Amino acid sequence: MAYTAQLEKNISIKSLQNLKAKQEKFVTVALYDAPMAAMAERCGVQAVLVGDSLGMTVLGYKDTLPVTMEHMIYHVEAVARGNHKSLIIGDLPFMTYATPQQAMKNATRVMQAGANMVKLEGGRWLEETVSMLSERGIPVCAHLGLTPQSVNKFGGFRVQGREKHQANTIAEDAYRLTEAGADLLVLECVPAKLAATITSTIAIPTIGIGAGRNTDAQVLVINDILGLTEMPPKFSKNFLIETDDIPSALQKFVSDVREGHFPEDQHSFQ
Ligand code: KIV
Repeated sequence: MAYTAQLEKNISIKSLQNLKAKQEKFVTVALYDAPMAAMAERCGVQAVLVGDSLGMTVLGYKDTLPVTMEHMIYHVEAVARGNHKSLIIGDLPFMTYATPQQAMKNATRVMQAGANMVKLEGGRWLEETVSMLSERGIPVCAHLGLTPQSVNKFGGFRVQGREKHQANTIAEDAYRLTEAGADLLVLECVPAKLAATITSTIAIPTIGIGAGRNTDAQVLVINDILGLTEMPPKFSKNFLIETDDIPSALQKFVSDVREGHFPEDQHSFQ
């Protein structure tokens, strides 16, 4: 197939901030290996996330808690070998950033494996960690809403921020982590209205998943895009059904996000 959206230059945090300023949507895909990473570059995916979702999508665990630093390093290295232009975000797994010092040590390993940025799940308790990483040159993507590493605390994979006090906490956390130095923010499974408010309030780009259409970017897991998930979440979409092959499915996801056709109301929480 002809790739019409191939990335022409290396994507940096600055490029993504410029897109927010121009109100142009950008695309992120969570993926885990070199061939998919290469295809993402050819399809114009600006940021790839080596998510700890790999515990579920690749390794067959029921949640992300068993994922280790060794798993992450292995997959970040593979993705970095396959993709030289997208911004590579590497997750820090469960309990590998419980203290700022532990976060420094483990974030360093993820960066040395080839990531351009690390992602951490959690709110204001991470302020000191985010400042410490950011001041020392490690860009941070924060992650609020349904943070899957806290699934046991939430009592399941549930939408967060439906009640007013919860929504206020998430909005305040977004502000505080931005002030602490975060450069991107993932908002997962929160009401569309809350995500829209946060996106228009904070200076850094937001990446939504199950957060409605008014975030600066969207992310989906590659397995969901390609229809590989047995019980797909409401916010996902199988793009392979309406296309001929895997590259076309990925390219359709990219163009639908850029043109504002995905997500639709049926993929969002009100
Ligand atoms: O681990 C992951 O893939 C994620 C995304 C779903 C946002 O955190």
